[in-house]
Amino acid sequence: MNRYYITTPIYYVNDAPHLGHAYTTLACDVLARFMRLDGRAVKFLTGTDEHGQKVEKAAGAAGMDPQSFTDRVSENFRTLAKVLNISNDDFIRTTEPRHIRSSQAIWKAIGRGMSPKGRPNIYLGKYAGWYAVRDEAFYGEDELTSGPDGKKRAPSGAEVEWVEEPSYFFRLSDWGEHLLAFYDANPEFIGPATRRNEVVSFVRQGLTDLSISRTTFGWGVKVPDAEGHIMYVWLDALTNYITAVGYPDETSREFQTFWPADLHMVGKDIVRFHAVYWPAFLMAASIAPPRRVFAHGWWTVEGQKMSKSLGNVVEPVRLIETYGLDQVRYFLLREVPFGQDGNFSHRQMILRINSDLANDFGNLAQRVLSFIAKNAGGEVPAPGAFTADDEALLAGAGRLLDAVRGRLEEQAFHLALDAIWDVVGTANRYVDVQAPWTLRKTDQARMKTVLYVLIETIRQLAIVTQPVMPGTMGRLLDQLAVPANHRGFAQIGTRLVPGTRLPPPTGLFPRHVEATGA
Ligand code: MSP
Repeated sequence: MNRYYITTPIYYVNDAPHLGHAYTTLACDVLARFMRLDGRAVKFLTGTDEHGQKVEKAAGAAGMDPQSFTDRVSENFRTLAKVLNISNDDFIRTTEPRHIRSSQAIWKAIGRGMSPKGRPNIYLGKYAGWYAVRDEAFYGEDELTSGPDGKKRAPSGAEVEWVEEPSYFFRLSDWGEHLLAFYDANPEFIGPATRRNEVVSFVRQGLTDLSISRTTFGWGVKVPDAEGHIMYVWLDALTNYITAVGYPDETSREFQTFWPADLHMVGKDIVRFHAVYWPAFLMAASIAPPRRVFAHGWWTVEGQKMSKSLGNVVEPVRLIETYGLDQVRYFLLREVPFGQDGNFSHRQMILRINSDLANDFGNLAQRVLSFIAKNAGGEVPAPGAFTADDEALLAGAGRLLDAVRGRLEEQAFHLALDAIWDVVGTANRYVDVQAPWTLRKTDQARMKTVLYVLIETIRQLAIVTQPVMPGTMGRLLDQLAVPANHRGFAQIGTRLVPGTRLPPPTGLFPRHVEATGA
């Protein structure tokens, strides 16, 4: 398959971007960059979720009308994408005309169809039940707990309120068996396995019909031909994934090329929407469901839940100013096995910068390149015959791309990075054992072979690591004089040409020294 369509969730614009948003977007960016370098036609979508009660309330609290408010806050998410060096191909806002048209079209398509039990997919009724504005979700009485303050809360901890209003319903209860059959036929649809099991058991318990329109506030997409109703924000929001490929024009090139999406990356809190409601909506509208939904874990900060009230919200922009962009990109994907929850701590961040980046990768590149600059005429050295040790290191580097590709297909970023750092470690040990500084005095020809093996290994490391640290690896490839059209994975077999002049080396990853008094 030569195309790859990947999406982040679209972010609510009630608040400023934080570490959690940066994390999801970054993970997608690494995959998008990897797939492009691997020769695939990539579409990478992110954007903002701008309708619903939560955003309407936030606008009110800011003393603004919802449109001006969303215009302003949405811009912060665009800025975040720039600051994080995100390579998205599109940025969607759910208030755009293309999306309103698409949401109304999917509503109509669902409404035209019959459920698997031969009943209309959409019917008019009255909703009476609990709603959590923070989650924009309906909850059954049995899902709620009572807090110490006596207030009822959703499993997410969000406060719920009682809602009673006329509403259109989606006949989700009729789609359970279809969904179970779909999960069965597509074992890769939900990852990781723990989330898949949760979803399957949720659906097995039996689904209730879903309220899909609201009448007690106005900030949303109008339900077609139903005065006073606006669409439930999640139906509108999920539809963004097909809006961006041209829906309702299913015959368009874009739709034909990119739908179904290869991966919806989401946080674990929104799996149910993506793995239950979304495929059901799509099936009901006779549209193919996406290929995969992967749910990552949540970050705590220095052991605590990240929250505004605790005042410990990590702002990605501040983090990047303190530690550097690629350092942050590396840390977030290396520190925590992707899919599990993790804890952010400044200590760990500094540790990884100084050990993995400065001592391991940085030092490897620095010592080899400055040795070549000083002792091998500042050009790619000409190798002699390779020894078994040389062949072993080069073979290890040569296997790296396949290893990383395999890991990334499972969204195991931490394992992909482990595989890269294995080669970095082997290369550093090789430098120590081969001791080119001794060879300089005893055997210059062998010294050049060793340096060639090393610089060639570094080239392969740099090419494979580009998706995670595009800026720094780009600079490293510049230092290796690798031309821009030799940086894709198809060209990874093109070896460095002996005699090529190398620019003067500069350090890649400075050690992080904490400011005094910090
Ligand atoms: N608007 C919905 C998504 C609609 S998709 C059709 C939404 N937005 S959100 O802004 O609240 O959250 C977006 C993403 O950020 C989610 O995937 C969520 O899991 C992630 N995170 C929010 N806080 C997080 C952490 N503390 N840690 C990791 N990710 C977290 O949900």
